[in-house]
Amino acid sequence: MRWVLPFQSPRSAPTMTAPDRDGAPATSASSALIELCDVSRIYRLDGLVVTALTGVSLTVRAAEFVVVLGPSGSGKTTLLNLIGGLDVASGGEIRVSGEAITGASRGRLADYRRRTTSFVFQTFNLFPGLTALENVEFGADAAGRKDASAIARQRLAEVGLTDRINHFPHQLSGGEQQRVAIARALATGNPILLADEPTGELDFKTGIQILELLRAQAADGRAVLVVTHNREIARAADRVVELSSGRIVSDGAPAGGRTDVADLHW
Ligand SMILES: Nc1ncnc2c1ncn2[C@@H]1O[C@H](COP(=O)(O)OP(=O)(O)OP(=O)(O)O)[C@@H](O)[C@H]1O
Ligand SMILES: [Mg+2]
Repeated sequence: MRWVLPFQSPRSAPTMTAPDRDGAPATSASSALIELCDVSRIYRLDGLVVTALTGVSLTVRAAEFVVVLGPSGSGKTTLLNLIGGLDVASGGEIRVSGEAITGASRGRLADYRRRTTSFVFQTFNLFPGLTALENVEFGADAAGRKDASAIARQRLAEVGLTDRINHFPHQLSGGEQQRVAIARALATGNPILLADEPTGELDFKTGIQILELLRAQAADGRAVLVVTHNREIARAADRVVELSSGRIVSDGAPAGGRTDVADLHW
């Protein structure tokens, strides 16, 4: 399936092929899907200026699995929020599939979020009044997918929560809530997956299963960006982008090459 951003006319559609919503492999993975050029995000709060990101230039292709590392406060969440259209850059340009999202109207950004990105939030952000199933259905519904209930059940099964689908978030452990948040993001089927510390609450065995799932999303042609503090997880990435004080300080393949998820230990 050729992916056309909602604000593109089919004639100006990009040359890349994005993943089929149901996971069919992409046929082309070489073009840049996400491009950041000299991006900055500066917060001004009560006279205090915080430079969360500065001079960030980055390109991510479809089917790439990128891990973002960096100490607390280095700008990792800010970076994901900007790519996800949840925040607006103070300077520079962000293009997705060749189309600028910087400067886009709020309406266009809403379309972009709905049809292009999916998010696993650092703090989960589950709806407290919705069950696990309803939370995940919401992800599929918001992305305009048909048969949201079947998709949600499948995604919850993939994260090992078939027996918790009718639980509300407060009736779930932290790790279970995190897995619901991951299932909700996967349920969108969107071509860009942004995951902020998706294994932070998980034990090793569950963390490995979730990493396998995330890697499979990249294998299906999605661009997957995972923020983590866990350097071992970075070994399973195609690329590791390291941030320090809002700047990219390194960007490349993991030292020693990519390791299979099954061979990780932490
Ligand atoms: N809304 C905001 N207003 C002011 N400063 C902010 C805001 N959001 C983030 N910051 C600041 O921007 C910097 C980067 O924040 P960010 O949340 O991106 O860090 P992070 O790398 O995700 O950290 P962590 O690992 O703790 O989650 C921090 O110094 C933070 O205090
Ligand atoms: Mg963060």
